[in-house]
Amino acid sequence: MRPGGEAPGGPRPAARSPRPGDTRVVEVPVPEPGPGQVVVRNLFMSIDPGLVLRMNDLSTLDIPDFAVGAPMWCDAIGEVVDTADERLSPGDVVWHRFGFRDYAVAEAGEFRRVDPDAYPSLTHHLCFGLTAYVGTEVAQIRPGDTFFVSSAAGGVGSMAGQLARLRGATRVIGSAGTPEKVRYLRESLGFDDAFDYHEGVRPRLPELDVYYDNVGGAHLEAAIDAMRPRGRIVMGGRNEEIRTGSAEGPRNMMAVIGKRLELLGYYTFDHPELFPVFDERFPKWVRSGEIVVAETVVDGLENGVSAAVNLMHGAYVGKVVLRI
Ligand SMILES: NC(=O)c1ccc[n+]([C@@H]2O[C@H](COP(=O)([O-])OP(=O)(O)OC[C@H]3O[C@@H](n4cnc5c(N)ncnc54)[C@H](OP(=O)(O)O)[C@@H]3O)[C@@H](O)[C@H]2O)c1
Repeated sequence: MRPGGEAPGGPRPAARSPRPGDTRVVEVPVPEPGPGQVVVRNLFMSIDPGLVLRMNDLSTLDIPDFAVGAPMWCDAIGEVVDTADERLSPGDVVWHRFGFRDYAVAEAGEFRRVDPDAYPSLTHHLCFGLTAYVGTEVAQIRPGDTFFVSSAAGGVGSMAGQLARLRGATRVIGSAGTPEKVRYLRESLGFDDAFDYHEGVRPRLPELDVYYDNVGGAHLEAAIDAMRPRGRIVMGGRNEEIRTGSAEGPRNMMAVIGKRLELLGYYTFDHPELFPVFDERFPKWVRSGEIVVAETVVDGLENGVSAAVNLMHGAYVGKVVLRI
């Protein structure tokens, strides 16, 4: 939680992983929907680094932190089971942000109806295709670009590499934390090259036109060195900082000036103009097999917090989704 009044960017405590006893599963009756409300039975919810961000004083994004004593929240997919609003009917499948609970009760406007047949699996509505679509748009990938993405076997990274290819990048390179993930990137997701960053980043990088940064720290510093003049670095996340509470580097910011690099921070929900294009294109790419949705499904609401911690330690491949 962010202490009241502290400016974003001020001193930050080291990230602390939740321990047993920090969270509780509480049983309460499901209320009747009030006027304008609906009741949704949750089916799946997103496990992502944002959960660990919100468990610590790390978030400088304009999204609410978790409050002590209140239910945690995250993206979720559920089915309407009761409604007091004509906009939604029982059986509708909806995307919303009231995860970490079996049933969500809220105003109908808080839920977005989705096409249950848009993808081969309902879980795909929680994948980070949209985030990577926005990020690759912000990066202005051009035909012929050499593209590098960190945490490439993760939820955003696995999408970003494949989308970069569809946007014309001729060389797509990814880094990941285990030999199995490296093999997966090469053999299942079509990356041209992939490497384990524990063996070093800088020596593995050719000259880059675009770096998609999910990690920060040592990766960002190495990529700055490898960028071609006027290259673009799109900054979506900082996994190293989220996991450890701090990240070293980059110490070579002078090169950003010397090479006239663009550092482009972005936030998915700042780009609603891209959503209709994404909704039209992305399901087709998934159904045709042009995009492979990499994901791991974990079972049980009671395992949500430990799954978020395990995620940051590299336990899973692709987008992590919890089946409720
Ligand atoms: N800007 C936006 O709108 C937006 C939206 C959604 C997500 N995000 C951000 O995008 C980033 C990626 O999200 P995601 O859901 O796809 O998560 P993710 O990349 O799958 O995150 C977990 C992975 O991070 C890697 N990791 C942890 N510490 C690392 C380190 N020190 N160096 C390198 N890799 C490390 C681990 O993989 P390895 O096994 O490879 O180490 C782990 O599996 C996150 O920072 C998230 O907050 C931004």
